[in-house]
Order: sequence, then C-alpha cells, then structure tokens
Amino acid sequence: MGASGDVARSAAASVPQPLNDPRNFAPEWAGEPYASVIERLHAVLQPRTYLEIGVLLGGTFRLAQCPRIAIDPGFMLSAEDINTKPVSLLFRLPSDEFFAQYNVRNLFGRELDMAFLDGLHLFEFLLRDFYNTEIHCHSKSVILVHDLLPTDVGMSRRDQRRPKDLPTRNPKRWAGDVWKLLPVLRKYRPDLRIICLDAPPTGLVLITGLDPTNRVLQENYDAILAEAAGLVLEEVGMANFVAHQRVWSTDSFQDPALIKSHLFERPGTAQSG
Ligand SMILES: C[S@@+](CC[C@H](N)C(=O)[O-])C[C@H]1O[C@@H](n2cnc3c(N)ncnc32)[C@H](O)[C@@H]1O
Repeated sequence: MGASGDVARSAAASVPQPLNDPRNFAPEWAGEPYASVIERLHAVLQPRTYLEIGVLLGGTFRLAQCPRIAIDPGFMLSAEDINTKPVSLLFRLPSDEFFAQYNVRNLFGRELDMAFLDGLHLFEFLLRDFYNTEIHCHSKSVILVHDLLPTDVGMSRRDQRRPKDLPTRNPKRWAGDVWKLLPVLRKYRPDLRIICLDAPPTGLVLITGLDPTNRVLQENYDAILAEAAGLVLEEVGMANFVAHQRVWSTDSFQDPALIKSHLFERPGTAQSG
C-alpha cells in the first residue's frame, strides 16, 4: 500500500462506521478469558516443559508450574513468581535471536510439551515463532497461539502506532495481522489439528498433531510471505473471515476427558460442536 492508499484509508476511517458493518466488524467473543483457558490446560495436561514467547508482565507465564522458558526483549517479571517456581529460564531477547542462539531441547533436557506464542503480532514473526517452536515438540505437544481471531479490521492493522488507519471499536487493542496464520496453516499444513476458541478479546487457538520433522513452512517461507501480503482483512470481510473459522465455545473446554479428546483424537473422532 503506497502513501496515497494510506491517506485514503485514514480518510475512510475518520468517517463514522456502523459497528454492525460486517466488512469491518465481527461480534466480540463471549467465552472465557484466554488466560483462564490456559490455566485449565496446565491443570489438565500437566506439561513437563513450557515455553512462552511474549511474556510482558508474566500474566500467563506465571500459570506454568513446570520447568519453563520465557522469551521477550522487554519482559517485566515479578520476583515473587520467579522465587516460587523451581526452574525458570529467562531470555530477554527477540525470539529470532533466541532460536538462533539456543536449543530448547538441550535447555530442558527433553522435548517441549506446551508453548504459548504471544510475541510480536506481525505475521512473518509468528510464522517463524511457530516453526521454530514446533521443531522442539513431539506428537502430543500443544502450541497455543493468541490473537488469531480479531473482531474488527482496525485491531488487525500492521502498524501498531496508527490506530486511526482502519475502523475499530478500541484503538488501544492491537492484534496485528497474525490472523493470516490460520489460512496459511490450513493450506500448507492440513496435517495439523487447529482448534479455535471464543476466548476474548481476540481468541485462543490450540494446535496439535505437531510434527517436528516437517519443514514445509520453512521451505515455502518466501512463497507464503508473498501470498500473505495479498491477504487483506477488509477485502476478505471481517465477519466473513470469522464465519469461515470453526470456532468452539470455551464451555466445551471444561471437562478434562473432553479437552484431551478435542486435542488428541483424530479429526472426526472428537465430540461434535
Ligand atoms: C501481548 S504481550 C504478551 C502478554 C502475555 N503473554 C500475557 O498474556 O500476559 C506481547 C509481548 O511480546 C513482546 N515482544 C515483542 N517483540 C518480540 C519478539 N520479537 N520476540 C519475543 N517477544 C516479543 C513484547 O515485549 C510484549 O511484552
């Protein structure tokens, strides 16, 4: 998008937008907050190892009781959380630098059971975070991803500092364009199981069926970025994008046996919903 396009967008956004315009808005998610879902997943799955990219104040990192890795160039963790957990490995680095310098399996002495990806909200960064994390997983690991289900086009802008570029209900909310990971994984990794939950504010996505030997995303990186550049949420339509995702209610994620069957049984064998 060139400079004239930017001006046109800003002008369009300054015109009042009806909140029910489906091109720009989808209904807000009404499920359980994402951190509560993550807390339950820790309790049910009892991961032996946990990694989080994008930690900030540690609101979700503190939920992990097992040996854990935090990666964030700007985290501000509390001493209390560190002092009450047995093993915390803290990397005050951008995730790309972390993965270039360290090996997660070697740090833990075993594979990664659970990860939460919530770092820089730009598609290409999340794509790298995903495949760099999957390499250290096993077939029963879970990767959780935040912000893949925005509810208005404004929060999906690439430039966090330009909230007036597109219509939004809340200019302070920024999910970036990481939503593109959903269509990209569906196309390039149909082997993965992807479960979208209606956790506010911007959804929680659970990915299983991981394969640490799969290199399709790495090998097609340039082609994927070129395709992703052509995905524009205003053109897809906000409500249309959401309607094409199979979004589960967090109400269906309460029972431990059901959670495990959702996550680990082959698609089609889990309960309907
Ligand atoms: C939305 S916050 C994380 C919130 C936290 N997961 C929670 O739910 O409480 C995003 C974080 O990503 C971090 N971040 C930004 N760029 C990053 C990068 N390249 N690698 C890792 N973390 C990054 C920011 O410093 C920020 O603290």
